[in-house]
Amino acid sequence: MAMRIAMVASECEPFAKTGGLADVVDALARALGARGHEVDVYLPLYRGLRPPEDLDALATLVPVGADPANGSEDGFERVPVVVRSGRADGYRLRLVDHEPSFDRAGFYGDARGDYPDNGLRFTLLGRAALETMRAEARPADVLHGHDWQAGPAILSLRTRYAHDPLLARMGTMLTCHNLAYHGWVPRDRAWELDLPRDIGDDAGVDLLRETVRRADLVNTVSPSYARESLGQEYGAGLDDVLRDRGDRYIGIMNGIDPTVWDPARDRALAAPFSADDVSGRAACRADLCARLGLSADGPVLGVIGRLDPQKGFDLVTAGAPALLAMGARLAILGTGDAQLIAGLRAIGAQHPDRIAILDRFDRDEARRIYAGSDMFLMPSRFEPSGQGQLIALRYGSVPLVRATGGLLDTITDADLDPERGNGFTFGPADPDALVSAARRAIAAWQDRDRWQVLMAQGMHEDHGWDRPAERYEEAYRTLRD
Ligand code: GLC
Repeated sequence: MAMRIAMVASECEPFAKTGGLADVVDALARALGARGHEVDVYLPLYRGLRPPEDLDALATLVPVGADPANGSEDGFERVPVVVRSGRADGYRLRLVDHEPSFDRAGFYGDARGDYPDNGLRFTLLGRAALETMRAEARPADVLHGHDWQAGPAILSLRTRYAHDPLLARMGTMLTCHNLAYHGWVPRDRAWELDLPRDIGDDAGVDLLRETVRRADLVNTVSPSYARESLGQEYGAGLDDVLRDRGDRYIGIMNGIDPTVWDPARDRALAAPFSADDVSGRAACRADLCARLGLSADGPVLGVIGRLDPQKGFDLVTAGAPALLAMGARLAILGTGDAQLIAGLRAIGAQHPDRIAILDRFDRDEARRIYAGSDMFLMPSRFEPSGQGQLIALRYGSVPLVRATGGLLDTITDADLDPERGNGFTFGPADPDALVSAARRAIAAWQDRDRWQVLMAQGMHEDHGWDRPAERYEEAYRTLRD
């Protein structure tokens, strides 16, 4: 049966993106829409966001906490907000327009750090969603929030709206894309949230923690990360509340959108190719090496992403001399930690034809790296799901990954399991482990026939959104029974 799903999120591709969250919100909403569900995605109208055409506007007053310095303790005020709605691809986008909150330099903060009033900003987002459903007298069946930014929506529904005859029966689901970001609101600012005092403690409110405790169903974005996060090492301080949820905490592996990531129709590439006809891939490889000034006679390892400790880029820097000594070429695209970049550049200066470092965010160059590299390196310390490895599989770049989270769930080591192997994996988060897995991968690469089989294995796999969307649908159903 068709359901109504209201998603609350801080990012959604192609409108607002800093990371994988944006791709997932968009692709999941579209996949659910294609399955007949009515999906609304509530998103802040950030500065510079390019909305769909023909927006409908609904003006509403949204209650948020009032600064006790200006009035009573535990008070709230009504803030005028306009919710602008328009068609996105397969779902309806509902943009919450409140200039003082969202017409700013960044989504979450600026050069000085996180915005101190993030509690207020995302309360406004969540409550605008609830108030819109109330004004239209059309509650969703499920309120589905993503990450801590959706915490206020779910927490408000279960407290301030607990007796609302229209809204209270909505089921709630929280998807944790990354447990490292909690959304911390110190006690002296907790008035912003307009939540009962028993939410949080004397120090303040940890939005993710409180929402994990109170959403009807909680998930993260792969089964392995769900399991790992129950222990201290990966739980990011939430393992206790995650354990408490028992079977109400599940893992659902993300997909990638096969229409967005399709080497047969990718305009950024020098030549199209597909699982059934990979001949165009050689041109993509030659094009990548020429663009980046890499000599093409050794295995090319692609690396793309945020250069931060989560992604294990320090392992790449530490392992780079050994990788180069084995003949590898490194094509690196990423922004972040200036020290890591400087370290890589210093190594690169000695081997200009073996390392290329592009210190920027560049969608087309990323596509060319997936299409032209021989292997795709993801040495993540933790990885809730990861999408780079899935894109790499589809684009014929054989993943070389640390066996954790979503990487563990999608990549099978070809030496351990020659039948089903689609990549290479290593366990410990240290450069030696990375280098020795790379040595095995390079040995396989030198055997051209074996390599073709390995590439074909990954390229034929189906990592589309049908299966994950079905799992979300099943999850939503448990909230309605
Ligand atoms: C976060 C996680 C990443 C995941 C993405 C989308 O960015 O770090 O592993 O793929 O969210 O769910």
